[in-house]
Amino acid sequence: MAGRLEGNVTIITGAAQGIGEAYARRFIAEGARVAVADLNPDKGEAVAEALRKEGGDAFFVRVDVSSEEDTKRMAATVLERFGRIDTTITNAAIYHDIDNLDHSLAYLKKIFDVNYFGTWLTARAVYPAMKKQGKGSVITQISDAAYLRFPIPHEDELPSFHYSVTKAAVASLTHFCAASSGTHGVRFNAISPGPTMTEATLKIVPKAMLDMLVHGAMSIKRPLEAEDLCGTAVFLASDDSAMITGQVVCVDGGLIMLG
Ligand SMILES: NC(=O)c1ccc[n+]([C@@H]2O[C@H](COP(=O)([O-])OP(=O)(O)OC[C@H]3O[C@@H](n4cnc5c(N)ncnc54)[C@H](O)[C@@H]3O)[C@@H](O)[C@H]2O)c1
Repeated sequence: MAGRLEGNVTIITGAAQGIGEAYARRFIAEGARVAVADLNPDKGEAVAEALRKEGGDAFFVRVDVSSEEDTKRMAATVLERFGRIDTTITNAAIYHDIDNLDHSLAYLKKIFDVNYFGTWLTARAVYPAMKKQGKGSVITQISDAAYLRFPIPHEDELPSFHYSVTKAAVASLTHFCAASSGTHGVRFNAISPGPTMTEATLKIVPKAMLDMLVHGAMSIKRPLEAEDLCGTAVFLASDDSAMITGQVVCVDGGLIMLG
């Protein structure tokens, strides 16, 4: 049976591990051609190679999403290789090595550089090709952290709320981009995952916090696996969502209920 994304050219940033890697596997399984884009060449190359061994059309492209030059080069490389860009998932973020205790201005700027400006630069780099095609889907990756407003204990200084505010900013960016690009056939939607059992989450989210989210706040009482997010990404990339733009889809077992 043909996949739902036969021939679809998809760029996935942050695809060297975790959720991005799961997206890459699923998109390949659905017939897409995938650019595994990441800062980490060793892991990124390994993911692309594994996908090729399984018969997929995938290659690795190194990118630091916070660099305008890199994002432009990434888009040009994909165009040279595949001739078009149908879907881009802006999944890369500072997450697995985040310092939750650093609330300095310098660190806030660093997180913004990757999580927010990296999303904007990636979208900006692929937009001309999508506009020319008259069709494209950009899927941004935000987080329920953008909506969970738990107090952060602090002494004197106001915390920076770095991770959460960058993800909230990306949600807002998604709305503005959607409003301005529909006339050219380009759609922008965001996926907001709940707690997902990647290596990164196991490393940085304390077990007590995870238990509180899963058992105290989620309607469906289990954490997500990366694979739980993939069907939504496939849907947002496919023509089944042709009239959906500017939306945040929370894939989170009911942790956040927007509306
Ligand atoms: N895991 C969760 O529970 C969860 C929940 C909500 C949202 N998210 C979001 O989902 C995405 C993936 O999460 P994950 O758990 O797989 O995270 P992860 O930290 O394991 O993976 C992030 C990937 O992004 C890459 N990356 C980091 N900085 C980069 C840069 N400047 N340029 C290019 N690539 C860069 C890393 O090398 C890594 O491969 C992130 O955007 C994260 O914020 C995750």
